[in-house]
Amino acid sequence: MRITGTTRVVGVLGYPVGHSLSPDMHNAAFDALDMDWCYVPFEVAPDRLEQSVRGLAALGVVGANLTIPHKRAAVAHLDEVRGDAAITGSVNTIHFDGDRLIGYSTDGDGFLGALAGLGVDPAGTEAVVLGAGGSAVAIVVALMRAGAARITVANRTPERAQALVELVGSQAGSGMTIATAPWDSESIGEALEGANLLVNTTSVGMKADPQQTLPVPAEALRPDLAVYDIVYTPLETPLVRTALERGGRALGGARMLVLQGAISFRIWTGVDPPVEVMENALRAGLERAHAGEGESKKM
Ligand code: ATR
Repeated sequence: MRITGTTRVVGVLGYPVGHSLSPDMHNAAFDALDMDWCYVPFEVAPDRLEQSVRGLAALGVVGANLTIPHKRAAVAHLDEVRGDAAITGSVNTIHFDGDRLIGYSTDGDGFLGALAGLGVDPAGTEAVVLGAGGSAVAIVVALMRAGAARITVANRTPERAQALVELVGSQAGSGMTIATAPWDSESIGEALEGANLLVNTTSVGMKADPQQTLPVPAEALRPDLAVYDIVYTPLETPLVRTALERGGRALGGARMLVLQGAISFRIWTGVDPPVEVMENALRAGLERAHAGEGESKKM
């Protein structure tokens, strides 16, 4: 890659940001399409976020991803927030469109794309979502937008599950139910009895977990229950492995990570992203990180 005065710049703002695999994905995509663009990681402390966003605009940077801890805080510095981000109050993509700073969240559409790859049509589905953090909010909003019939949210800290339901409740269409369930095997097992989709957004099953814990009882993983786990370290979590072993359809978090990035790419460039190139770059980056540089389920 040769950087010149005509090179267009995008990037990611995070704190820390060294673990992010987004530069690998986007720079591989620019290379593959022979585009004069580059993607740069910027480590930005929380008290420098506003200055940084304004600085990027002043420098003519085209856009950026936002990762921990900036996804919510950035909203205050934007001119407009579109789509799911207007409901969730969390942005992972900003685009400097002329003089206006526009914010988006591409997580929900990334998730829906991953579900499509799993052969799941969310319209009319009954889903159980584990977790109530930022990822869960994005996923629940996407499922509601896609016409899910019933969504049950279970979280270790029940107040957060309740807060999620209150946040998104006004988006529920007629005939759509959103409820909480307690965080115990029996209650989650019961919620899964009538469900056809299980989504894990908690950190349970991440590589650091020596117990290789399953967030639900194995018996609850029926062959007709589709499972999506947003964790991508390891690429195949205990949940995904067990669901597959029991004859079900299941997929890990790498696909959603790639697709949310691919949607950001299209917002900035207007060009169709080379999704497979991005996925290969992500997988190569994860293999490098596997050597012990830590882990993440984040962008
Ligand atoms: P994200 O932005 O990915 O959603 P987050 O906001 O940190 O990340 O949320 C992490 C989720 O994983 C939360 O739902 C958290 O549960 P709490 O709200 O009770 O903290 C869940 N989580 C993390 N570790 C967990 C564990 N060991 N068992 C169950 N849930 C866990």
